[in-house]
Amino acid sequence: MEDLSGRTAIVTGAAQGLGRAIAERLLNLGASVVGGDRLKEKLENGAATLNITDRAKYHPVAGDLRSAMMPTMLVDRAISETGRLDILVNCAGGSGDVGVQHIDELTDELWDQVIESNLSATFQCCRAAVPHMRAAGWGRIVNFSSSLARGMRGPVGTVGARLAYCAAKGGIEALSRQLAFDVAADGITVNVIEPGFVLTEPGARVRERFEALSADEKQAILAGREPGDLPQPSDVARVAAFLVSDEAAHLNGLLVPVGA
Ligand SMILES: NC(=O)c1ccc[n+]([C@@H]2O[C@H](COP(=O)([O-])OP(=O)(O)OC[C@H]3O[C@@H](n4cnc5c(N)ncnc54)[C@H](O)[C@@H]3O)[C@@H](O)[C@H]2O)c1
Repeated sequence: MEDLSGRTAIVTGAAQGLGRAIAERLLNLGASVVGGDRLKEKLENGAATLNITDRAKYHPVAGDLRSAMMPTMLVDRAISETGRLDILVNCAGGSGDVGVQHIDELTDELWDQVIESNLSATFQCCRAAVPHMRAAGWGRIVNFSSSLARGMRGPVGTVGARLAYCAAKGGIEALSRQLAFDVAADGITVNVIEPGFVLTEPGARVRERFEALSADEKQAILAGREPGDLPQPSDVARVAAFLVSDEAAHLNGLLVPVGA
């Protein structure tokens, strides 16, 4: 297993779903974790309910990544608590709660919301984190795309504003490829996890939207698989933990599909 003792990580989207599983995994591998999310209550409850041994290493920061202040707040907390920042996992995002099938139904407001919560937030967190990693000559960044970045036919299913979401995730992939080249000489790697469909815990967004679908719609998403065949959030967390470890020093600029 990876050893992240002495490392400090920021994980965005840590209140639920994949971000929560990643925060838990990194903490259990010895890292200190600053978890960011706009769901204040859930994030702070997480500090009490995560399956971790050392709660003192978890530092929740509630706030919206659409605010310019949030990336700085996350980095400042990492530095004030531990004096360092080694790892950034940009997991916050998603396609929103409103299913939008057609381009002419996609409002500017929804477009901005999805682009800002995924692509702009990823850019701004990377921009805030890189100077600290560069100064240390070591850094690991993992960004989150989706298999949907390559598009899909048919109904939106569990996805919200699909067109904006595909654009945002495609942007994250392109940003990450270029950033990987730009910071390689500083000892920093930038990789992207591209999940397929991952059923997160009850109460998390993807699970809630899946449960609300008809039996036929569920079958279309499962495409012949049983729910138990799908990757679990802990499987995604294991991949993220490897990508931020010393062992992954020579993996840079990769797109890593999980369960696509
Ligand atoms: N679960 C899946 O099947 C799946 C598939 C492909 C990609 N992904 C991607 O993986 C990541 C995690 O997905 P998930 O299923 O855990 O989603 P989720 O909705 O359960 O969790 C995402 C978290 O990000 C937070 N967040 C979103 N926008 C934010 C903002 N502007 N400011 C602060 N916090 C914000 C939400 O509050 C939420 O807690 C997302 O980037 C998502 O697009 C998930």
